[in-house]
Amino acid sequence: MKKKLLSLILAAAMVSTMLVGCGSKTTETASSDAPAEEVVEDTAATEDAAADTTEASGDLQVGIVLPTKDEPRWLQDQAQFESLLGSAGFTSQVLFSQGSSATEKTNVETLVSQGIDVLIICAQDGAAAAAAVEAAKDAGVTVIAYDRLITGTDAVDYYVTFDSFAVGVAQGQYLIDNAPEGTGIPLYLYAGAATDNNAFIFFEGAWSVLQPKIADGTFVIANSSEAVALQDKAELTRDEEGKIIGQITTDWDFNVAKSKAEAHLTAVGADAKGDVLVLAPNDGTSRSIADVFATDKDVTSYVITGQDSEIASVQYIIDGKQSMTVFKDTRTLAADSVNMAVSILNGETPATDTTYNNEAKDVAAKQTDIVVVTKDNVKAALVDSGYYDASEFTGLE
Ligand code: BGC
Repeated sequence: MKKKLLSLILAAAMVSTMLVGCGSKTTETASSDAPAEEVVEDTAATEDAAADTTEASGDLQVGIVLPTKDEPRWLQDQAQFESLLGSAGFTSQVLFSQGSSATEKTNVETLVSQGIDVLIICAQDGAAAAAAVEAAKDAGVTVIAYDRLITGTDAVDYYVTFDSFAVGVAQGQYLIDNAPEGTGIPLYLYAGAATDNNAFIFFEGAWSVLQPKIADGTFVIANSSEAVALQDKAELTRDEEGKIIGQITTDWDFNVAKSKAEAHLTAVGADAKGDVLVLAPNDGTSRSIADVFATDKDVTSYVITGQDSEIASVQYIIDGKQSMTVFKDTRTLAADSVNMAVSILNGETPATDTTYNNEAKDVAAKQTDIVVVTKDNVKAALVDSGYYDASEFTGLE
């Protein structure tokens, strides 16, 4: 216990240092700056812990569960967690659910059996994850929902998230600001997975700015009869959003996005082609959809959104194949979660700045801003900030 407390105090100091600077240089400095006295104490206490069979059986402090390795977005988060938690001296493990709620539950059980005190979990399916976090909660674990809210349970203690409504607004506003002149411009709508609460928030944000332009005839929805039926409603209920999302969902899957885009372009006439706008929910689906629109000879130009600033999409933006992305700095999100874990393990109440209702309670949340990235600011936002190395890209000016 003494060991835990000391390393946590150290960890808290380190994570704050890392937040001020960024990248691995600061991390190294923080580690090597650890006062010798504390390091000695820590080593001595490690022996105490080894004698403690309960802790020795697992001795994990923090468990992290992420949805899938198959999307670069979550590999970015994994890298940030490993760097932060490792440097801060935590015992921790990151596990992936690979798109399966059953695997997710097993992952949570595995981490709980290894003695974790804090679970940081990005749910595969926000409703299905309730059972997994309830099991963790019953075992005395504090649960932090990461990026995606877990719904319908009071077993979620905290939520660390980007401002997802702002993501949707940024996507919708980008389409408005970069639309061709005139009226009757075809608008293709796509959404994330209906099992992800974020998909609703992103869509709600986008709808909040796009709807007036649809209602006044500037834009014409080309691929969703449900959205057309609701186009005069400024604010949609969750059920109404569900109907639209049910029709235009990509399931966050590149292949679903591709085949839906192909089917949509096959189904429409030439009047729904020409210069078009595409609301794509994230980078992976945006690249798939963009490739389909780029190869249709009747589509003369397209403006398409994204989010996550995945390397492949940043290259698409540089090459003029994707119009924008939303930068969600995973360094901040991971650091906020780790800081929260430190507070919890020190018996303190973590700092939060808002709440999100998850249908069972108002979950105290820490929210992070987002940044719109286009060809114009890609270098400043993503390379000069130290997030990516310039060598990852070609044609960067
Ligand atoms: C995340 C996005 C991500 C998407 C697909 C959402 O919950 O917020 O950043 O692109 O899931 O994984």
